[in-house]
Amino acid sequence: MSGSSNYIQQLFAKRLGGNKFGKDTKIYKFEKIKRAKRAAMEANPNKELFDLGVGEPDEMAFPGVIKTLQLEAEKPGNRGYTDNGIQEFKDAAVSYMERVFGVKKLDPNKNVNHTIGSKPGLAMLPSIFINPGDITLMTVPGYPIMGTHTQYLGGEVVHLPLTKENKFLPDLKSVSPDVAKRAKLLYINYPNNPTGANATRAFYEEVVDFAKTNGVIVVQDAAYAALTFDGKPISFLSVPGAIDVGVELHSLSKSYNMTGWRIAFVVGNELVVKGVAHVKDNIDSGQFAAIQKAGVHALEHPDITEQILEKYRRRLTRLVKGLNSVGFDATMSGGSFFLYVEAPKGIKGGQRFKSGEEFSQYLIKEMMISTVPWDDVGNFIRFSATFAAKGPEEENRIICEIKNRLSSVEFEF
Ligand SMILES: Cc1ncc(COP(=O)(O)O)c(C=O)c1O
Repeated sequence: MSGSSNYIQQLFAKRLGGNKFGKDTKIYKFEKIKRAKRAAMEANPNKELFDLGVGEPDEMAFPGVIKTLQLEAEKPGNRGYTDNGIQEFKDAAVSYMERVFGVKKLDPNKNVNHTIGSKPGLAMLPSIFINPGDITLMTVPGYPIMGTHTQYLGGEVVHLPLTKENKFLPDLKSVSPDVAKRAKLLYINYPNNPTGANATRAFYEEVVDFAKTNGVIVVQDAAYAALTFDGKPISFLSVPGAIDVGVELHSLSKSYNMTGWRIAFVVGNELVVKGVAHVKDNIDSGQFAAIQKAGVHALEHPDITEQILEKYRRRLTRLVKGLNSVGFDATMSGGSFFLYVEAPKGIKGGQRFKSGEEFSQYLIKEMMISTVPWDDVGNFIRFSATFAAKGPEEENRIICEIKNRLSSVEFEF
């Protein structure tokens, strides 16, 4: 090892493990899945692998969105930094919130700011509010970004478990007075990744009440907000008082098949949005104007999301039926493209599964079906309806084949 790499190893910040950075031999969940997938494909070169593990759409953005990017990319006026975003995108976000979610009277210059995907938006929020010792309440299982950055800043993360008994909503009454007092941020995410659960208006009202009583800022991660199966999509901001206590992060990634494009927006409380704009201004210089304009085209065409939603509804409905026919206890999701089911305890007369992870490894190795395990609260696996398939016939064939493979053994639950 050269002298320089020696001292660099000593310089890593404690938040990344200090001088032990990169030396952790633990293999993380998604790496394990990747390795198991590779090994299964090598062992069964002639068997089709079904990937229900991916968390992003299997199809491209719609033609009108792509065409807009092509045209706008050629215009010299779009070449430069956009800082905190172009006016057209802010205006389109405000119109979208009213048209899709019925949220009125948002000011495009005060209540909205674009972000380069919702992930960086979530990463920026703790920098605005968290001092060492402050608490962020995070639902688990879930998308951990806001918690990670809270810890980077010396803050503390308190987990709120999402249980089946409580319809995968956090039990806010279980938060102790001391924790509630030190909490500054509450992260919720509906429709939820990974549980597929959706929130009710009554729940959002309870959240507003909790926030006001305890002086907490609410961050509702709305990455899947428009992908709702049970009735009209609900925005947290449509509940009275919500704009006084928090923000929502909307993303074009999932609802418009635009994951790689990196375009999203934070909307809601003026001061929180101002904080995001301030931190963001010190991190990036805005998304390319041509992408924002393609985003405007998307936001003006919510019918695109409706078409995408119907595809996921069709796939998930069939998957629920198929899984239940072989003994699983699957219920149609309220939203997102995920289906969250309890892992079986084992196979009759055979192997036992002590966790979702063991079951997920079995599925990939023995049945060439890739899923994501979640063992934070109970032993579950997540199926994603984003498996690659062109049209309903192929979807049907794949789901039938998944069912056939699963029915080759008898699971015990
Ligand atoms: C719950 C949730 N929030 C946020 C994101 C980030 O989405 P993006 O940064 O593409 O907007 C994801 C992506 O998987 C997600 O599942």
